[in-house]
Amino acid sequence: MLRQYLYVSTAPGLQRDELDAIIASCERNNAARRITGFLLYNGRNFIQLLEGEEADLLWVMRRISTDPRHSGLSVLEDMPVGARACPDWLMRHIRLVDKVEDRRAALEGQLPSTLSAQLKRIILNFAVLN
Ligand SMILES: Cc1cc2nc3c(=O)[nH]c(=O)nc-3n(C[C@H](O)[C@H](O)[C@H](O)COP(=O)(O)O)c2cc1C
Repeated sequence: MLRQYLYVSTAPGLQRDELDAIIASCERNNAARRITGFLLYNGRNFIQLLEGEEADLLWVMRRISTDPRHSGLSVLEDMPVGARACPDWLMRHIRLVDKVEDRRAALEGQLPSTLSAQLKRIILNFAVLN
């Protein structure tokens, strides 16, 4: 059964090349496991949406949860869904604009239109944290 999984974690001060390396891992692995989703990073915390079959999500979460580049992983949502919100994104890095007050409007245009209102609300609230 298809599921969506949303978590936050902490990774203070990751550099651009470290983020690029994480996205490169996603590109290596997520297609084979049919994992889709996106992640946001605010300079201190990640929020990541993962979508896929339960076994594939378990496989990737085992790796992600033991990755020393972040800590304090906390699961916000883990629920069965009928369809993916972002079937074409292996793992998109959605970049936050610098000005916190502009982030909400910028994200409205960047998040997939198929994202549930519930997940959208959580992600918008994450994005305005400083
Ligand atoms: C915030 C965060 C998100 C990650 N997301 C994924 C992911 O979606 N898929 C993935 O394969 N690895 C992801 N990783 C990396 C894994 O923890 C792990 O390093 C990687 O799967 C190892 O595979 P590789 O040897 O092919 O790089 C993530 C790491 C972090 C810190």
